[in-house]
Amino acid sequence: MAKVTVKDLDVKGKRVIVRVDFNVPHKGDVITDDNRIVAALPTINYLTENGAKVILLSHLGKVKTDEDKVKNDMSIVAKRLAEVQNAPVKFVNATRGEELESAVNAMNEGEIILMQNTRYEPGESKNDPELGAYWASLGDLFVEDAFGSVHRAHASTVGIPTHLPSAVGFLVEKELSFLGGALNNPGRPFVAILGGAKVSDKIGVIENLLKIADKVLIGGGMAYTFAAAEGKKIGNSLLEADKIDLAKDFMAKGEGKLFLPVDTVIANDFDAPTDIKTVASGEIPDGYMGLDIGDATIAEFQKELEGAKTVFWNGPMGVFEKPEFAKGTIEICKTLAELDGATTIIGGGDSASAAKNLGFAEKFSHISTGGGASLEFMEGKELPGVAVIAEK
Ligand code: 3PG
Repeated sequence: MAKVTVKDLDVKGKRVIVRVDFNVPHKGDVITDDNRIVAALPTINYLTENGAKVILLSHLGKVKTDEDKVKNDMSIVAKRLAEVQNAPVKFVNATRGEELESAVNAMNEGEIILMQNTRYEPGESKNDPELGAYWASLGDLFVEDAFGSVHRAHASTVGIPTHLPSAVGFLVEKELSFLGGALNNPGRPFVAILGGAKVSDKIGVIENLLKIADKVLIGGGMAYTFAAAEGKKIGNSLLEADKIDLAKDFMAKGEGKLFLPVDTVIANDFDAPTDIKTVASGEIPDGYMGLDIGDATIAEFQKELEGAKTVFWNGPMGVFEKPEFAKGTIEICKTLAELDGATTIIGGGDSASAAKNLGFAEKFSHISTGGGASLEFMEGKELPGVAVIAEK
């Protein structure tokens, strides 16, 4: 069943509240990656072109103190949005009250307002019913387009749509179509590549993908906990000792479809390594730590990816921020970019930044704008911000 989409709503002349995810990385006032802003444009443009009054709501960062408020002032996003949008954006430096209400009342068709950071309101993250009802009172319709935030049951993602006719926007629709396609009806073989530092962050997704995918390739820091579970020597590599039994369980369940690194790039120090070499997986001497997959693993993973029709990738293969340990992530990224006839999907977060920084972004079928949200979706969990939108 498909969700009601923005196209199903009659938006002309209506005040449409759109929850976007403008939680963008920034250093001071400088936005370092505006991908999430650009990704929201199709919905915003559709609404303005069809005569809606567009009221944008988003969080930015974590807001606990007044200092956090200063650090996460949404006005920097309003400026960037106006540039990429090529249309005026009125920033309202308030999250409730007279200033916000009169700005909304003064809107004409096709105009855009961006409200201050939703997390300036303490009730936002608690899904305070009063706050959800108040924000809903500012609009006639609601559009959920913040894919990165749909795993949060907050006032702006879940509270508002309980009061207004609601729909998903084009970004959420596209994310659900790619991620849902991989989960529910993947072209086969379906290969999942999971990396990143910790098994504990990926338990749910490994569990679910071992059931659904044809192969699960494991890299990154979490591979050392698996190696330890096999009784191998991992030196000073990252280890989650309390996850060894879980890793054993995954290996038993994943027999024949779970692939672990066969070699690893090791170094004698993380910050200032003076000795870097490649050894067979499980032969890491004391005083050394594994920081990337080795060439033999890259070759093996490339072989396992041959002929794949669907690939889902989440998590780097090594410490890719450091050039000495980036090769595994770069080579896997290149291999995926060159795979013929496959639907290639990157979950948000580090692997998405790796693909973008390496210049491969255009080569993937889909790069998710949601880190936590795409992982929870691939775990098979219900996303509250999606569940609250009616089916057609
Ligand atoms: C994200 O960046 O993953 C989303 O914007 C959600 O942010 P949060 O983890 O602070 O809720």
